[in-house]
Amino acid sequence: MTWEESTKQKMLHLKLPTDPRWVGIAEMQIEDILVDHAYCEQKAASSCISLILRFNDLDELVDTLTPIVAEEWGHFERVLEQLRKRGMKFGFPRKDEYVIKLNEFVKKGGNRKQHLTEHLLMNALIEARSCERFKLLSKNINDEELQKFYYELMISEAGHFVTFIELAKKYQDPDIVNLRWKEWLEYEAEILRNLELRGDRMH
Ligand SMILES: [Fe+2]
Ligand SMILES: [Fe+2]
Repeated sequence: MTWEESTKQKMLHLKLPTDPRWVGIAEMQIEDILVDHAYCEQKAASSCISLILRFNDLDELVDTLTPIVAEEWGHFERVLEQLRKRGMKFGFPRKDEYVIKLNEFVKKGGNRKQHLTEHLLMNALIEARSCERFKLLSKNINDEELQKFYYELMISEAGHFVTFIELAKKYQDPDIVNLRWKEWLEYEAEILRNLELRGDRMH
């Protein structure tokens, strides 16, 4: 199965496509996008580290997420390299309203297994949306090096998306995961509908 086919089956679960105006304004603010993107990679690495520390007794989870930390940090390094070679500055992080809103949807209370499901699904969702945005960037911006860069990252994040969903289904009843995943998808679409359209952020 090609990547395109597999994403049609797995990724296009997203309920709301990105506003088509986003990629045009993002291209005009590519320095801000790259800085924001670097922090997205940092957060992806940090969130896997947190899961490893919190669920250190789950061998398969630890062994699966450990190389992903390295991969995400490798992405961070590559974004930084793109900034440096363009003479752009790595600035401060901005307030990540998208992730703040997603965090609000994480079910409080419940047992450890439920917490794990919530965090894996939230991570899967961020990967899916990042993947969609990387695809838009790779197809629409003029900078050829960044087109290739975003194409490669899109494939890598698609792999992470699948991994998070599979891990969720390993440690929780797959029917429960599927039901909750649908709720997460609806909620994410609602967030995007209400977030201001900005070209200086990845989400
Ligand atoms: Fe990444
Ligand atoms: Fe990722």
